[in-house]
Amino acid sequence: MTDTTTTSAGRDLTASEREADLDLDQLKQLVGLVEYDESRDPFPVTGWDAIVFVVGNATQAAHYYQSAWGMELVAYAGPENGTADHKSYVLRSGSIRFVLQGAVTPDSPLVGHHARHGDGVVDIALEVPDVEVCVAQARRAGATVLQEPQELTDEHGTVRVAAIATYGETRHSLVQRVVDGVRYAGPYLPGHLPAQSTFVKREGAPKRLFQALDHIVGNVELGKMDEWVSFYHRVMGFVNMAEFIGDDIATDYSALMSKVVANGNHRVKFPLNEPAVARKKSQIDEYLEFYGGPGAQHLALATGDILRTVDELRREGVEFLDTPDAYYEDPELRARIGEVRVPIEELQRRGILVDRDEDGYLLQIFTKPLGDRPTVFFEIIERHGSLGFGKGNFKALFESIEREQERRGNL
Ligand SMILES: [Fe+2]
Repeated sequence: MTDTTTTSAGRDLTASEREADLDLDQLKQLVGLVEYDESRDPFPVTGWDAIVFVVGNATQAAHYYQSAWGMELVAYAGPENGTADHKSYVLRSGSIRFVLQGAVTPDSPLVGHHARHGDGVVDIALEVPDVEVCVAQARRAGATVLQEPQELTDEHGTVRVAAIATYGETRHSLVQRVVDGVRYAGPYLPGHLPAQSTFVKREGAPKRLFQALDHIVGNVELGKMDEWVSFYHRVMGFVNMAEFIGDDIATDYSALMSKVVANGNHRVKFPLNEPAVARKKSQIDEYLEFYGGPGAQHLALATGDILRTVDELRREGVEFLDTPDAYYEDPELRARIGEVRVPIEELQRRGILVDRDEDGYLLQIFTKPLGDRPTVFFEIIERHGSLGFGKGNFKALFESIEREQERRGNL
């Protein structure tokens, strides 16, 4: 099959988006997709390819993400089909591909990774139209190439892959799924076999709780944010997004600095946080301590109906951060956010936050940490024009996170 629709950006859908029955108008609304001229991009990125987690028990995590988060198992690799040292479960939801990996043998490299970091994101894999072009650019710009371009082939076809290093022990695999005009037809990568859930959803369970991945936030060390912003500019040709967060969001205890970079079509957005000096340990410091260094802090999942998504997730036992009632009763906030699509009381009942800027508004909520360590978590986001990240909510959010931190004795 010849594939011409994935080689240009912005105005075309990715294969994952087509499979998820999304259209361009939906994606503009969901994740703020924009058009841009890919021919002038030194490091063209089509979009997300997969988010790879290392976890302590991939077998159980795969069940949790299917049962609680409504994801679908689509592929598997493990000792049964030729991967001796680890298991790898590939789950889909909307256009997002999540991969959960856990060590099987004591000498698997995943054992050390998990000991150092706990459950977390090891690889933010990006789909690119040309791996060779990207790696040449990365090398010219001084990036660390972790894996040289190579072709992987099985009965479903061929992919070209490479990998470069980013913050901490996190990597960006670069995945070219169209080689010589033919798109790889397997469910993930060669080595993985198609798989189906044995988990049967109860009747009436939601099919899909979110449609796309909006952004992934990286936490880096004090003084390193600008270095990583510059890395994404220099190496990957990313552009700045407007939102900038400085001292104005410091609370008594927590403070951070944040800048946002995005690829040309804005499918891939990376807010980068560093701790700022505060009276007590900030939430970024807590993350860095427990993750053992820089890493992915949260993944924002875009939905068109955050109320339903949150209700369904709560029904499955997913826990969210509390938002103080004072947040909703603050007349300043009410004046600032104006009219949104549902009464404020509906948001308050669920703890959903609202933020507004000159382009529109967004609704968002954050889960508690997904694993045992106070590190990676999810955000659910519903955009209505706003291309921001909830700057106005940071203070309210911090106060809520700090209450959790205090309960853990880490404040
Ligand atoms: Fe976020």
